[in-house]
Amino acid sequence: MKKREIVILGGTGFVGRYLINRLSQDDVTIRVPTRRRERNRHLLVNPKVELIETDIHDDAKLESLLSGADVVINLVGILHGSQEAFRKAHAELPERIVKRCNQLGITRLLHMSALQAGSANAMSQYLRTKGEGENSAHHLSSHKLHVTSFRPSVIFGEGDSFFNQFAKLLRLPLVAIPLACPEARFAPVYAADVAEVMAQSIDNPTTFEKRYDICGPKEYSLMELVEITERAIGVRRLIVGMSDSLSKLQAKILGMLPGKLMTTDNYLSMQLTSTCKEPLSALFQIEPTPLEGVIPHYLGSKHQQVRYMDYRTLAKR
Ligand SMILES: NC(=O)c1ccc[n+]([C@@H]2O[C@H](COP(=O)([O-])OP(=O)(O)OC[C@H]3O[C@@H](n4cnc5c(N)ncnc54)[C@H](OP(=O)(O)O)[C@@H]3O)[C@@H](O)[C@H]2O)c1
Repeated sequence: MKKREIVILGGTGFVGRYLINRLSQDDVTIRVPTRRRERNRHLLVNPKVELIETDIHDDAKLESLLSGADVVINLVGILHGSQEAFRKAHAELPERIVKRCNQLGITRLLHMSALQAGSANAMSQYLRTKGEGENSAHHLSSHKLHVTSFRPSVIFGEGDSFFNQFAKLLRLPLVAIPLACPEARFAPVYAADVAEVMAQSIDNPTTFEKRYDICGPKEYSLMELVEITERAIGVRRLIVGMSDSLSKLQAKILGMLPGKLMTTDNYLSMQLTSTCKEPLSALFQIEPTPLEGVIPHYLGSKHQQVRYMDYRTLAKR
């Protein structure tokens, strides 16, 4: 059988690395575009990965990248940026990818969206543009191209930004930490489980043309998640949940500072609950991994090297 060629756009990121690990178990070559090859050279230790420095926003370069692919996976996403940057990455790029896939006769496209993307109540640029991109991926595909999109809640795992950022903040010698949107709700899902769902869906026709909300096994408020992070790293701080108006103000101020710990757009995203009706579709043979069994392993570690370990077996002990 011919070796399968997979292209993962956004494959150099946090989720991409889990997905590459999972898909590398099969007989594949994985093409990963990047804007900065030098920064992602560590991916080259995997002999199945071909890392290509290119500009995926250039039509000719995108076409050359996708040519010959059996499966295309789009993971590109940003959390901060101008209105134009959100549109370019979340709405225009998926539209251009699906059109190229149609032209090239590619038959399988997996698209990474986000929970609540395109919801009628979504006020953030992140969720609005994510919704536009997801709709384009489905509505513009030819009858030959089978599209599946994935709509996860917050994703945790080695190298995540959500829990690592809170851990970093909690390690600062502060007397109290003001927390915006303490009541915001999430159902965090493990990156290795997300990768497994995506990998299983590639050849499963039941998933064609479907959109899957993806959540972990339990729901938490943001305050509870910060407390779990505290326990995972063994620190105790006074966490002060802020009112809605102070949360909005904090997001505005932090959004103007370097590092962008939070922005007004993040605040707007958190106005919608990031939870699912059920944890993971029964269609996938996955028992969702609990957060508590995993994050102490990577947040507790002092070393900075990111290894992308799969902690699922440890978490179930
Ligand atoms: N992490 C979560 O909790 C979470 C939750 C829900 C949904 N998602 C979605 O899942 C996907 C992957 O998330 P992630 O956490 O893995 O993101 P990530 O670590 O930030 O990686 C995203 C990758 O996309 C590429 N990229 C970003 N902006 C780009 C641009 N303007 N043009 C071209 N390439 C660009 C980057 O590649 P180079 O820098 O190498 O070019 C980067 O490695 C995203 O679509 C995100 O919205 C994530």
